[in-house]
Amino acid sequence: MLSVSIVGASGYVGGELLRLLLDHPQVTVRQATSERLAGQYIHSTHPNLRGRSDLRYVVQSELVPCDLLILALPHGAAARRIEHWAALGARIIDCSADFRLSSPDDFRRWYGEDHPAPSWLGRFVYGLPELHRESLRDSRYVSGVGCNATAVNLALLPLVRAGLLDPNRSTIAEVKVGSSEAGASPSDGSHHAERSGVVRSFAPVGHRHTAEVIQESHLSDVHLSITSVEMVRGALATCHAFVHPGTNERDLWKAYRAVTADEPFLRLVHDRSGSHRHPEPKILAGSNYADIGWALDETTGRVVALCAIDNLMKGAAGSAVQCLNLMCGFNERMGLGFAGLHPV
Ligand SMILES: NC(=O)c1ccc[n+]([C@@H]2O[C@H](COP(=O)([O-])OP(=O)(O)OC[C@H]3O[C@@H](n4cnc5c(N)ncnc54)[C@H](OP(=O)(O)O)[C@@H]3O)[C@@H](O)[C@H]2O)c1
Repeated sequence: MLSVSIVGASGYVGGELLRLLLDHPQVTVRQATSERLAGQYIHSTHPNLRGRSDLRYVVQSELVPCDLLILALPHGAAARRIEHWAALGARIIDCSADFRLSSPDDFRRWYGEDHPAPSWLGRFVYGLPELHRESLRDSRYVSGVGCNATAVNLALLPLVRAGLLDPNRSTIAEVKVGSSEAGASPSDGSHHAERSGVVRSFAPVGHRHTAEVIQESHLSDVHLSITSVEMVRGALATCHAFVHPGTNERDLWKAYRAVTADEPFLRLVHDRSGSHRHPEPKILAGSNYADIGWALDETTGRVVALCAIDNLMKGAAGSAVQCLNLMCGFNERMGLGFAGLHPV
């Protein structure tokens, strides 16, 4: 059994990691940290796990070495102490944005500060299996993914891979997101009276995940807008782009089938009728699927590429466990079989 410890386990991503890994047939969850809640059972913050484990939180200073350490900490906490974490975990998956960008210059541009450990950037593989499966196998250090970036990257993947996008036109991605993206710590904006019912422009321009989309899609003229909407979990990327003149529906079917055919967690959703004919995040809550689809206006060449995910799953903990499986030579689907709920 692989011994895995989770640092920052009391947060929302940490809770999903615990849920997945407690049921993983090849994993023993060794330790779970919380500075605030040391000594308390993990179900004190993750009530869905009551009766599933008698694990109690420990503080970070009590961590002992393990086979794989997963960091689910706020921005900067992984990078500032990376040598310390590397001494504790033979392998590391860091769910934060600290090691997602390979270039220190890009990090400075998007995060407004110098990277605390730039020599480590090149040692991390970007943790999206659909893009980096072969590099992830046997890798020691893997970064998590940005949830909004993942929705956009997967929405655009078939068009990018098939070379269908018109390079003279911009790609604009609007991402609608749920409240759990902001993590478990309350803020003025997350107070129920302020957050409930919103359609709130959170980052119309300048969202940091844009850097991950540019890096991973290799598109330079791509732009994100993020809007908070009335959901707890979920992200829906609606990407507006233009395909080469003459591209038709059949070309898109071919491009999307080519990308989804062998992917365990990518599903093509493009039906002619029915209320679920396009991807939607609601039915993905708790599942690791990313549903992708499109709509094409053949007369103008405008394509709307869609991707729905659960931000805490495919956008964070689910992808992390998928990476763990690849890193350790397990079946990629292991521990990730939950299909989601309907109705929910
Ligand atoms: N939420 C998402 O949808 C999502 C998606 C992709 C990636 N991520 C990334 O995953 C990481 C965790 O996100 P999350 O949503 O799980 O966050 P969260 O709910 O706020 O949890 C943060 C965790 O870090 C711990 N922590 C340690 N030092 C801290 C400090 N100085 N300030 C605040 N918390 C501290 C907290 O536990 P104690 O205070 O109990 O020690 C808590 O367990 C972040 O880097 C985030 O960017 C999140």
